[in-house]
Amino acid sequence: MLVWLLHFRGGLNLNSHDPNRVFNVHPFLMFFGFMFFLAQGLVVYDGMVCRVVAISLGGVGIRAAIKSHHTLNFGSHMRSLHSWIGIAAFSLFVLELAFGILKCCGDAAENSKEKPRKSGPTGRTVLYMATCAALSGLMERSAAMDDLDGGGGRSHRESTIINVLALFILLFAVSIDKAVVYAVAVNGRADCMPEA
Ligand code: HEM
Repeated sequence: MLVWLLHFRGGLNLNSHDPNRVFNVHPFLMFFGFMFFLAQGLVVYDGMVCRVVAISLGGVGIRAAIKSHHTLNFGSHMRSLHSWIGIAAFSLFVLELAFGILKCCGDAAENSKEKPRKSGPTGRTVLYMATCAALSGLMERSAAMDDLDGGGGRSHRESTIINVLALFILLFAVSIDKAVVYAVAVNGRADCMPEA
């Protein structure tokens, strides 16, 4: 992704005057921030820190898309399927975290001996939705680039890099999903920590 954004798309900077550079923060943070950390939150023993990082970086990423939206001619806000799936994934994730925190507080108040759940019931659903958002986002961006540049916006090499990136994102999500399914089958839990 960095090769694409730095070499082909002029880099990324949230405070730049160039709207393209501001926009480029969006795909970077939505994958390496939101999606990566939400996936890590599913497989590590205590995923809370990962989930908080995912939400914080995802929030900045969405802010970057909103900030550069008009200048890059994307039309009105929240019109594309991508933006709907994206905001649904993000909102579900925030809700899950909020309920998780409430449940932990409830358990602590009752002095429960039961271990807190490491990942909520919607964890994998959010991962699927984030994957759909990331892939549809790449398509959305490619289409916008072609429109703006009169149809010849992407070189063959850039198209190849975008396609490889999309396949990599898909493989990443599939491997995390398989890891979760395998860990649940073996340990009865998604994380890899042995029972005490
Ligand atoms: C999990 C990952 C992602 C989420 C949750 C997400 C979420 C969003 C949201 C909520 C918007 C609407 C902003 C607005 O209306 O102003 C948006 C816009 C946009 N995103 Fe993403 N995004 C993700 C990944 C990506 C990726 C990887 C790309 C690739 C370049 C991308 C490209 C775009 C584009 C071009 C827009 C503006 C056009 C539109 O509204 O569809 N997104 N994204």
